[in-house]
Amino acid sequence: MTIDLRSDTVTKPTLAMRRAMAEAEVGDDVLDGDPTVRRLEGRVAEMLGKEAAVFFPTGTMANQAAVGALAPLGTVALVDGDSHIVHSEMAGAAANSGVQLWPVALGGGRRIMDAEDLDRSMRLASSHGSDVSLVCLENTHNGAGGKITTLDALRALWDTAVAHGVRVHLDGARLWNASAATGTPLSAFAGCAHSVMLSFAKGLGCPVGAILVGDGPTMSRARGVRKRLGGGMRQSGVIAAAPLYALDAHLARLPDDHANARLFAEAVDGAGDARVVTPDTNIVMIDLPAGVTSERVVAHARANGVLISAWNAGRVRAVAHLDVDTQAVLTGVTVVRAALEACASTAEA
Ligand SMILES: Cc1ncc(COP(=O)(O)O)c(C=O)c1O
Repeated sequence: MTIDLRSDTVTKPTLAMRRAMAEAEVGDDVLDGDPTVRRLEGRVAEMLGKEAAVFFPTGTMANQAAVGALAPLGTVALVDGDSHIVHSEMAGAAANSGVQLWPVALGGGRRIMDAEDLDRSMRLASSHGSDVSLVCLENTHNGAGGKITTLDALRALWDTAVAHGVRVHLDGARLWNASAATGTPLSAFAGCAHSVMLSFAKGLGCPVGAILVGDGPTMSRARGVRKRLGGGMRQSGVIAAAPLYALDAHLARLPDDHANARLFAEAVDGAGDARVVTPDTNIVMIDLPAGVTSERVVAHARANGVLISAWNAGRVRAVAHLDVDTQAVLTGVTVVRAALEACASTAEA
């Protein structure tokens, strides 16, 4: 059987989750509200300590709605260059909202911006006459390897943004993982942002869905952007029932994924001279030695029944999730180690 470590998005809904979906009470969410969607929105807004929430089909649409709700046309949003909103959202901020993304220059070999980086970029952008309206943060940070921005670091970023009169959106697709790994309540992280997106289709194991939380007026604008983007959904209680189930059944097990990621990382580090980035959460990045390409390592592992993904030419990614238990992770270790060693032994000089 194939072991799929490419992403935590590959999980399939369990039978119990499918039952909860089948039995959901529904209504027309565009006309007068779907009761299950309303229940989910209320529950997550409360967990995050925010006034309101809007349910979305995807995290991408929720991020885009946040940009549309918080950043006026013709303004600049400062971002991490290596973030989902930059790489994987089809230039949406520009195309949908007329907002230019400006990657923050990072100091000190960092992969994620800190408050000093943000302050420097803010001053640089303003000195060129750019009107910075928004900062988009990502926690955990996927491209950096599921890295956590701690509450202290996030507060410093928030203070800097607020001092410059700029709003903050947090892409918290995996904020669940940051909270589970640190013990920091979700609401404490959310206190450092005007809007927060959380995904249900990653560690929580749902087939679809994300949510945006924030204050009432911002969420009401985001609801309007969602409708404009074609995201007004009808009997969406059928899909909202999955996250309601997952909050009860799957949220508490995220530390299992983190333990599996650590196990994988420690066992793979050094094979064929590859270097593993020590994981904070469920994502493991493996940096390959010169002459070894991610394409070859991925193909070798695939031929032996384990799927991992090529993050870039010199980096591969493996992710622990609900559908891989410790035994499967150990098989993954054997196959990935063998792939790294085989590729290193035939590396091009
Ligand atoms: C950090 C981050 N943000 C946003 C998204 C977008 O989520 P979706 O695939 O639901 O659009 C992803 C998806 O992988 C992600 O990793």
